[in-house]
Amino acid sequence: MDRRNFTFKMAALVFGSAWASRTWGADDLLRTPSQTRGPFYPIPEIEKQSFFDVDLTRKNDASPLAEGEVVAIRGTVVDFSGKSLDRVFVEIWQACNSGRYSHPNDNGASPLDPNFQYWGRMETGVDGLFSFKTILPGKYPGRTPHIHFRVVAPRREILETQLYFQANEELNSKDGVYNSVPAKQRKSVTTALENQAVDAKDPNSPKLPTGLFQIVLGPASDAKSTPGNGPRNPKK
Ligand SMILES: [Fe+2]
Repeated sequence: MDRRNFTFKMAALVFGSAWASRTWGADDLLRTPSQTRGPFYPIPEIEKQSFFDVDLTRKNDASPLAEGEVVAIRGTVVDFSGKSLDRVFVEIWQACNSGRYSHPNDNGASPLDPNFQYWGRMETGVDGLFSFKTILPGKYPGRTPHIHFRVVAPRREILETQLYFQANEELNSKDGVYNSVPAKQRKSVTTALENQAVDAKDPNSPKLPTGLFQIVLGPASDAKSTPGNGPRNPKK
């Protein structure tokens, strides 16, 4: 873990105290709907980065900032009862500001951003929190802007889903994948951005537009997560 990611994780943990006190209604605790993985899941490239890396806005501490609006995407992973789940592996991947994926199968004409790290991942602690710093995903033909999630918890079914932005309401309403989500659950995969302090305990903390996403996983079972689909890198 490098210093940059460590710092961001600590901010996420501080933020967590406010997050954990939030009360969720019964409607929030429907299982988060699965959605298509899409063709650009970043295997094997994601294996080449550190296990814990939550800042997609730069390749490393010394590199320039990626193009686009910097945002935070935060949330908790919980079960049906609202209990926080730890040891949950959360991956995200997305298009850069121009709407291009860093993937050999993306033949789009938009330029790649050499400074954007197109994917990130982390593991939740006992508070169930995850937190990523990224840029707003760009729009590409046929889709409304979205961020892909892959969530792997011990003894639970793997969840692959996508997160959308409330500001893109019109584009969302025309998006086939978005519309594949049951109408009553679309709100649960759509986030509004609100300015929030990166460090809730620091009155001088910078603020970032922040989108919240609660991920609800199905019940635990005796079955293990599908072999080969779980976290692949040993934690180093
Ligand atoms: Fe996508």
